[in-house]
Amino acid sequence: MKNIFRQVTDINREDREIKNQYKSCAIWFTGLSGSGKSSLANELEKRLFHKNIKSYILDGDNMRLGLNSDLTFSDKDRKENIRRIAEVSNLFIDAGVICISAFISPFKEDRDLAKKIIGEDRFIEVYVSTPIETCEKRDPKGLYAKARKGEIINFTGIDSAFEIPQNPRLKIDTTDKNNCDSIDELMKIIQQYL
Ligand code: ADX
Repeated sequence: MKNIFRQVTDINREDREIKNQYKSCAIWFTGLSGSGKSSLANELEKRLFHKNIKSYILDGDNMRLGLNSDLTFSDKDRKENIRRIAEVSNLFIDAGVICISAFISPFKEDRDLAKKIIGEDRFIEVYVSTPIETCEKRDPKGLYAKARKGEIINFTGIDSAFEIPQNPRLKIDTTDKNNCDSIDELMKIIQQYL
């Protein structure tokens, strides 16, 4: 970037991590709408909170009400959505916080960009693989019904693709699995960063 110079601060991520006694990272949930990303993020945050580990959730619906309210669900805007979230995640990581993201993030290229921005060693991809039949049956926001009627376009799983992650750190199908077991598994991965 021309004429822009990165400013260096005396206190940096390493200092914060030493003080916190854990390494900050990004837990990146990806999966269809209704797959259980937000619920898992919420359960994980409670677990971390009670262990005195700082974390913060960035959630698709919430971010689209504020920072990303100018974005649609076109492929191009989804890319920008994920790029901004990856940058925000990076700031949280720099601040010494475990950043939990819950976005559909349907495209491999966009998730790869997020991984690049955040850094491979701090990016933990969790694929919430709950099948569309379950998500559509749950339909907590009534959006699948609207998409089937053509009232919403570019709806992931209906008329917009979801590219399955090939090498996620963890895969969770919430159809009949107890979220508690999945959080245990996730905590084991996070322990490696503590
Ligand atoms: S992403 O594809 O750009 O990563 P994001 O996670 O931010 O999506 O937002 C997804 C949420 O927006 C869904 O959970 C759903 O509530 C809502 N939504 C509204 N329109 C759509 C759509 N066309 N496709 C998917 N989700 C949509």
